[in-house]
Amino acid sequence: MEMTDRKLLGMAADAMTNSYSPYSRFKIGAAIECMDGSVYMGCNMENAAVGSTVCAETAAIAAAVAAGQRNFKRIAIISEGSSYCYPCGACRQLLAEFSPDVEVLCARSDGRYVSYPLGTLLPMAFGKDHLGKS
Ligand code: THU
Repeated sequence: MEMTDRKLLGMAADAMTNSYSPYSRFKIGAAIECMDGSVYMGCNMENAAVGSTVCAETAAIAAAVAAGQRNFKRIAIISEGSSYCYPCGACRQLLAEFSPDVEVLCARSDGRYVSYPLGTLLPMAFGKDHLGKS
């Protein structure tokens, strides 16, 4: 079945319910769609050692990469907040490593969302080209 923005956002919202965020009390969920149509989900996971916190997007990307996926089409991100949930800078960089053209859907708790190509959110990104790798 064809994946839609709405359906991907729904999967992100499902993942959000599993968020472990007792410190910030801010739940985030993410769902990343791969070029082959598979989808991997993630939620934020906090820790008493706060620097060990993992973002929802990072968790979703890691799950996809662990399954052998490296080409991403879309990622949906949703939070409980009343403003659109944009990915943090570190998560933008992780996405750029694999898919500089991935579409990023940023939703707020009522389900409204905005969508941008990653290049708009992370222009002039540092990448493997700078290291002479391909
Ligand atoms: N967080 C994410 O999951 N993704 C982001 O892009 C930004 C921040 C999480 C980390 C932490 O659990 C909570 O949001 C508050 O910073």
